[in-house]
Amino acid sequence: MCGIVGYVGNQDALDVVLNGLRRLEYRGYDSAGVAVLADGGLAAEKKAGKLANLEKELGERPLPESSCGLGHTRWATHGPPTDANAHPHLDNPGRVAVVHNGIIENFARLRAELTDRGHELSSQTDTEVVAHLLSESYGECGDLAAAMREVCGRLEGAFTLVAVHADQPDVVVGARRNSPLVVGVGEGEAFLASDVAAFIAHTREAIELGQDQVVELTRAGVSVTGFDGEPAEVRAYHVDWDASAAEKGGYDYFMLKEIAEQPKAVADTLLGRIDAEGQLTLDELRIDDAELREVDKIVMVACGTAYHAGMIAKYAIEHWTRIPCETELASEFRYRDPILDGRTLVVAISQSGETMDTLMALRHAREQGAKVLAICNTNGSTIPRESDAVLYTHAGPEVAVASTKAFLTQLVACYLVALYLGQVRGTKWGDEIGEVVGELARIGEQVDEVLATMEPVRELARGLADKGTVLFLGRHVGYPVALEGALKLKELAYMHAEGFAAGELKHGPIALIEDGLPVVVVVPSPRGRSVLHDKIVSNIQEIRARGAMTIVIAEEGDEAVVPYADHLVRVPRTPTLLQPMVAAVPLQVFACELATARGNEVDQPRNLAKSVTVE
Ligand code: F6R
Repeated sequence: MCGIVGYVGNQDALDVVLNGLRRLEYRGYDSAGVAVLADGGLAAEKKAGKLANLEKELGERPLPESSCGLGHTRWATHGPPTDANAHPHLDNPGRVAVVHNGIIENFARLRAELTDRGHELSSQTDTEVVAHLLSESYGECGDLAAAMREVCGRLEGAFTLVAVHADQPDVVVGARRNSPLVVGVGEGEAFLASDVAAFIAHTREAIELGQDQVVELTRAGVSVTGFDGEPAEVRAYHVDWDASAAEKGGYDYFMLKEIAEQPKAVADTLLGRIDAEGQLTLDELRIDDAELREVDKIVMVACGTAYHAGMIAKYAIEHWTRIPCETELASEFRYRDPILDGRTLVVAISQSGETMDTLMALRHAREQGAKVLAICNTNGSTIPRESDAVLYTHAGPEVAVASTKAFLTQLVACYLVALYLGQVRGTKWGDEIGEVVGELARIGEQVDEVLATMEPVRELARGLADKGTVLFLGRHVGYPVALEGALKLKELAYMHAEGFAAGELKHGPIALIEDGLPVVVVVPSPRGRSVLHDKIVSNIQEIRARGAMTIVIAEEGDEAVVPYADHLVRVPRTPTLLQPMVAAVPLQVFACELATARGNEVDQPRNLAKSVTVE
C-alpha cells in the first residue's frame, strides 16, 4: 500500500522517480507526487488521481533537472485523495519533503504539539507531522539522517519514510518500521523503493533493510543505522528476475499475462523440490525434521486469496498427515486468544510478504511459542524475515492487484508442506500419496490445457456483463474455490458475488435463487469420493429447478452433470485435492473478462491496492 521511490545519482531524478512510480502504481493509485532538489531549493508537484494526472501536470509545468528526488503513489488512509493530501508533504518554509507508507498512530497528539509550537499544517494526513518534526529536528542537528532517527523515536505505528532536505542536495534518507523499504545499489547512484520493481531497470543489486533502521543514500554509497544510531547489519542480495518480468509483454493487462504465466509459475515452484524417486526435498526449510515430527497442530493464517489457499491446504494437510489443521483469517487471529504452544506450527501465507494483518498474526504466534513457516513470493520481505522458516513460491513479480499466479503457487507450496510433513512423520504413504506427487508434477501442463480452452468462458462472461449478481457453489476443496471465484468477481467486476458451501444452500442461501441468476458450480471428481459428486449434482438440480442459470465446472468425462449444465466448463482429470489448481483458472478468466466487458480497470480495481500494509 502506497509506493515510494527515492533516488540520488547521475541520471535525471524526476525520470527515475516517475519510472519507478509507474512500476509501483499497483500499490495505490489515489494520488501521486514527486519532489526534487535543485538550485539550492526544493520543487514539488502532486496531484489527486492516477499517476497520469501528475504526469500531465508535469508536462505543463516541468520541474527543474535534478540528481536527487523522491516520489509517492498513494492509497489513502488519513484524509481523502485530494491534491492537498497527496504526498510529498513539506514543512512550512518548504525545505523538507517527505513521503510515507503506513499509519502514524500518534499523529493527532504530535499534530496538536506542533500547532501549539506555531506550525501550520495544511493537510488531513498523518504524514505531514513528520515533515514538520524533521524540519525542527534538522534545525537542531543539521543532519537529515540524525533528524530522521530522532523523529522516528517519537512515532508510533507502521511507517516507511523517505525524505530529502534542500540543505543536503545529494542525500536521500529513508526509515523503516513494519512497512517495506529496499535499497538498490548502482554505480554512483542509489535507490530506495517499496519494491525492487521500481529500480530493477537500473540495478539488480539490492539491500534488505531491517526493522527500525535508517538508511542514508549518497552517490558514494549507502549507510544504515538503527534508530539508536548504531551501525546496523543488513543483507545484500541479487534480484533473480529482470525488468521484463515486471512488464506487460504484449498483453493488455498484467492480469492476463499473469494468468498465462501460471503453468511456468507452478513448474518453477515445484522445481528441485521433488526428486526422481518422488521424495520431497525441502532443504531450505529452517525447521528441522525432528521438530516437524513433534508438531501436533497446524494453523494457517492469511488474508483474501491467500486465505483461500490456506482453506484448501487444511483439507490436504489433515487428509495426508492426520495433524489437526485450522485455517484462520489473519485479521481475526490474534484477537481471539488462540491456543498455541511450542508444538503448534503456524503457516503464514502471503504473496507480498508485507500484509500487516498476516505479519501481526505471525508475531502473535511466535510470542506464544509457536513455530512459524512462511509461504511467500517476495524475497527478503518482512513476513519471511520474521518467520522461523520459509518456503518461497516462484511466481515471479505479481503486478495486477488481483492475485492469480501467486494463488496457484501458494497451493503448490501448501501441498509440498503437507506432503513433506507426511514424509518426515512417516505417515503411511499409500498409493494415493505416490499418485498425488506424480500428478502434482503434471499440474502445470494441465493448467496449460485449461488456458487453451477458455474462449467459451470469455464469451459467457461478456454475455453476463449486465447481470447484478453471480453465485458460486462448491463442496470440499471446491468450496474455497467458489469463495475465490466470488472474490475475483467482486474485486474486478464490482458485482455482487457470493461463494457458498453447496450443502449450506438449503439452510438459507437458496432463497436467493431466482430466474436467470447465474450460479457457478465447482463439481468434484466423480472418481474417488463419488458421494460428494452425487450430492453436488443434486444441488445443481435443486437450483436449476428454481430458475438458476447453471455454469458447471466439471472434469473431463463427468457425464452426470451434462443434463443440468446450461454452460459446461471442462477441466482435466486430477485428484480431488489438486482440483482447485485447475478449477480456479476458468474463474480467473471469467472475472477478468467480465471486468473488461463492464469497462473496469482490470489491473487497478477501485479502492484496492496490492500489498496491504495497514491493519
Ligand atoms: C485478491 C488479493 C488479495 C490478497 C490479500 C493478501 O485477489 O490479491 O485478497 O490475496 O490481500 O495478500 P498477500 O498474499 O500479499 O498477503
